[in-house]
Amino acid sequence: MSKHTSLRVGGPAEALALPESRAELREVLELCRKHEVPVRILGAGFNTLVPDAGLRAAVVRLHGLRKLARSDDGRVLAEAGASHSRVTRFCAKEGLAGLEFAVGIPGTVGGWLAMNAGIREREMRDVVECIEFLDPATGKCQEMRAEQLRFRYRALEVPADVVLLKACFHTEPSDPEEVRERMRSFLAERRETQPIDQLSCGSVFKNPPGDYAGRLIDAAGLKGSGVGGAEISTVHANFIINRGGATATDVLQLMDQARAKVLQRFQIELEPEVRVWGEEL
Ligand code: EPU
Repeated sequence: MSKHTSLRVGGPAEALALPESRAELREVLELCRKHEVPVRILGAGFNTLVPDAGLRAAVVRLHGLRKLARSDDGRVLAEAGASHSRVTRFCAKEGLAGLEFAVGIPGTVGGWLAMNAGIREREMRDVVECIEFLDPATGKCQEMRAEQLRFRYRALEVPADVVLLKACFHTEPSDPEEVRERMRSFLAERRETQPIDQLSCGSVFKNPPGDYAGRLIDAAGLKGSGVGGAEISTVHANFIINRGGATATDVLQLMDQARAKVLQRFQIELEPEVRVWGEEL
């Protein structure tokens, strides 16, 4: 899985499926159900950590399902496998405002939804009008409107095995150059505060109520400290980077060290934002 996750760590899965259509996706899910193989859905692998021992599961990557369109009234319709860069470039080209904040949030539309991705001021829940998902138990596609969706801080509560297929985003017609300018400014801010050119999985921990994981790890004196090839970024302490040759075990040990130190110094327990696969299977 080191080939399919942004940290470039992780052992093998039992199988990898790359469906190109809903029919193929259904077929894969049905096959796994028949053979009792657990399934994991992966977008661009930006928020996922796979242990070195690998996974007793089939991984299904959705980047073959990536259609992108706009409706006449200015909504953006994006399939789950569409990448963040395609969606934001599309909005800029079409002059559609609303998703500028997401310009530097790496991943796919499915990952954006599952994680309720966002910045401090704005997140997916503010722009999603509806989503479509596949229920593997029935093989049926269903739609849910924004008011039915339970977005939380960096999470969307849906039954564990449903597959997010598509989102409809609320956007407003605007001048393409203005959209581009706002995107440039979001990106510049991110570039200044986060190690965006290095291998990472984004924020490692969720911000605890009333504080910031990055501030706490920094104040615990851990910036630049490392285990093997994994290092707490010197740019932002809530990022772990792969400085070369890191393993998942290095990353997990470094996460444990950061949690222990923050707990000891501040009596605050940090909760991972990155999804560690394998532990819950
Ligand atoms: N800080 C430090 N040292 C550091 C890093 C941060 O003292 O090494 C301090 C900052 O000075 C600031 C505070 O901690 O006072 C918060 O830092 P920042 O403004 O960078 O925001 P954040 O809470 O760490 C959140 C999201 C990011 C998002 C930014 C910008 C979480 C866990 N992270 O970061 O989202 O890009 O706001 O809006 O909610 C992600 O979720 O993967 C992610 C990158």
